[in-house]
Amino acid sequence: MNKMHPDLAYHHNDPGSIETRVRALLDQMTLAEKIGQMCQVNASGGSAPDYLGGRLRDGTIGSVLNIVDVDEVNELQRIAVEESRMGIPLLVGRDVIHGFQTVLPIPLGQAATWNPELVREGARVAAQEAARAGINWTFAPMIDIARDPRWGRIAESLGECPMLGSALASAMVEGFQGNDPTDAGSIAACAKHFAGYGAAESGRDYATTNIPETELRNVYLPPFKAAVDAGVMTLMTSFSDLNGVPATGNEFLLRQVLRDEWRFDGFVVSDWDSIRQLQVHGLTEDDRASALEAATAGVDMEMAGDTFINHLEGLVNEGRITMHAIDTAVGNILRVKFRLGLFERPFTDPDELLPSANGWALETARLTAQQSIVLLQNENSVLPLQEHSLKSVAVIGPLADAPYQQLGTWIFDGDVDLSITPLQAIQSHAAGSTEIRYERAMETSRSRVSEAFDNAVRIAADADVAVLFLGEESILSGEAHSRADISLPGDQAELVRRVHATGTPVVAVILAGRPLTLTNIVDHVDALLFAWHPGSMGGPAIADILFGVDSPSGKLPATFPRVVGQVPIYYSHKNTGKPPSRETVVHIDDIDTHAEQTSFGMSAFHLDTCFTPLFPFGHGLSYAQFEYRDIHTSRQEIHPGETLTVSAVLANTSDIAADEVVQLYVRDLVANITRPVRELKGFRRVRLEPGETTTVEFELHTDDLRFFGRDMRPVVEPGEFHAWIGGSSDTNLRTQFRIVARQ
Ligand code: NOJ
Repeated sequence: MNKMHPDLAYHHNDPGSIETRVRALLDQMTLAEKIGQMCQVNASGGSAPDYLGGRLRDGTIGSVLNIVDVDEVNELQRIAVEESRMGIPLLVGRDVIHGFQTVLPIPLGQAATWNPELVREGARVAAQEAARAGINWTFAPMIDIARDPRWGRIAESLGECPMLGSALASAMVEGFQGNDPTDAGSIAACAKHFAGYGAAESGRDYATTNIPETELRNVYLPPFKAAVDAGVMTLMTSFSDLNGVPATGNEFLLRQVLRDEWRFDGFVVSDWDSIRQLQVHGLTEDDRASALEAATAGVDMEMAGDTFINHLEGLVNEGRITMHAIDTAVGNILRVKFRLGLFERPFTDPDELLPSANGWALETARLTAQQSIVLLQNENSVLPLQEHSLKSVAVIGPLADAPYQQLGTWIFDGDVDLSITPLQAIQSHAAGSTEIRYERAMETSRSRVSEAFDNAVRIAADADVAVLFLGEESILSGEAHSRADISLPGDQAELVRRVHATGTPVVAVILAGRPLTLTNIVDHVDALLFAWHPGSMGGPAIADILFGVDSPSGKLPATFPRVVGQVPIYYSHKNTGKPPSRETVVHIDDIDTHAEQTSFGMSAFHLDTCFTPLFPFGHGLSYAQFEYRDIHTSRQEIHPGETLTVSAVLANTSDIAADEVVQLYVRDLVANITRPVRELKGFRRVRLEPGETTTVEFELHTDDLRFFGRDMRPVVEPGEFHAWIGGSSDTNLRTQFRIVARQ
């Protein structure tokens, strides 16, 4: 074998050295070998070494995906490294979205923790477990801003807020890639889907997006910029059409923004077959034109398609694509392989890594689930359940004991045997002292068979409290699983009504992959806990919250509408010229029977629902009582480039220790484009002991108030700002300050 591996000293911290090695490789590669690096091949199904061996030996595969057998992965790497001419190791990709064998809460649930450190830890756990299988690249984090709960992929997202999304995007990147990406337990991250995917029309997956450039830059791009700043090694394009140019062929996104403005030097992978789909979109005539469009726009690697392998060589030979463009793309890919240390260590020895599902992994999963649970409502303080005074608890519902369903979407490698269900956890928690009676009541959340309701009602009537586990199975959210009606499916609302009619206090625990419209049940339950799809350790986390081992501390990362017709509804909306208020709105039920045509208040509202959501962004109750007061700015006026402090006093006036997520919002009152009524500018999770009082301070630099204005440049404008601190986006504790231009 004529090996040409460049024999240069490698220091992964020294970019100069990596660049030298990249150049040395490029100088020796044939065009076919270069194009091979730009191809990612699906390796699932059958014995990959057998059917991919030929191409690997030829050096015409740069990456594989969907192979998780470490011996097979090592064999693929061996062929690539030892039997191909250039000996370039493979990137081995996989969707490790929220855990590997140990399943963490869905990303939307993780976002509800508002805890970047914990989210980083979760990504670390996932990386370590995935690395044991030979995976060195995850297609995560998914950081599409999602403001439409109909969209099934909101489950995979970090919610609606650019600031929260950016903070958690960075944390995930840092967790996957680690302090040292060459560590055996570090894997490359992939920020996806670049960009705008979450704005799919009517929440239908893959649908068109139309996003004005200011909105794109101020709302949809910041998490990607944060991921790039955190050192993310790869980005994935979106399937969707953005303003008429599908993202996979979008030069503005992939070159102007990503390379010229952000100086990204990793590589861009297409989404699955999305290059070929440029033709389906109507952008190109055939596969060849699609390959040209994608490569020209800045896609470096094609996922699971064959347009690059079939057409790039011809396009180069005809002068349609330059060798320089090919070298740039391949250089981007090789740079990542060097940064990951793959040339030094292409093989995986699982024994070098911690075993999967170890104590650290399970505890991280449990703690994340616990902090992700949002207490939406707690009438008469029915929660926490007081064990000593409870003789019996009725546990009811299709999701109380559904080990697979609690894991959520994207759990290819999740080990369902690790799941501890809420029923199991409640039984072990209450062992001996309290009688637990269980009725599933519905086969699935979608069932319309109510035969078992009578028994549910019977056990509820006999119990001190009924705890209902409702929501959506995992199959109702995720990719291509959008819904037009986002209320509880099947006959669940009827089940709630019947149990409520017994007079027994009702606690509803909702497991779901999206915000749901819960208007038709809120009046029939005393307490409402939203647990998302909480993952392997969902049961113990929920039981701990139910029984008050710890207080709920999750806060909503996305607005909960009252009815689906309010969508899109999000906290950082614009004011409009006619903002609604309690004085301007009218409800359909209050319109006089013989009313003639008239204008009602002339403001931005619906006649048949309230203009506010059911539960706002940032909302989440606690068993403790928190009081906010004395909001204060360190200075009334600052100049561009300066910092001020916004602070408020937070008191825990209860006798329960608990975490609270303190939130800072700001409004820029007048600007060259209209600005949102509130934008999150800071948040912090603090723990307060009973009776403890603290002052929470946020530093605000004028750069934090920058936005992209009419000319698409970032600007911070002099003028007046309002600032709020509180435990939710609807806090009223307000102060103000001014930015004053320097003379
Ligand atoms: C398509 C999805 O859109 C993307 O998120 C995922 O990473 C790839 N398929 C690979 O499975």
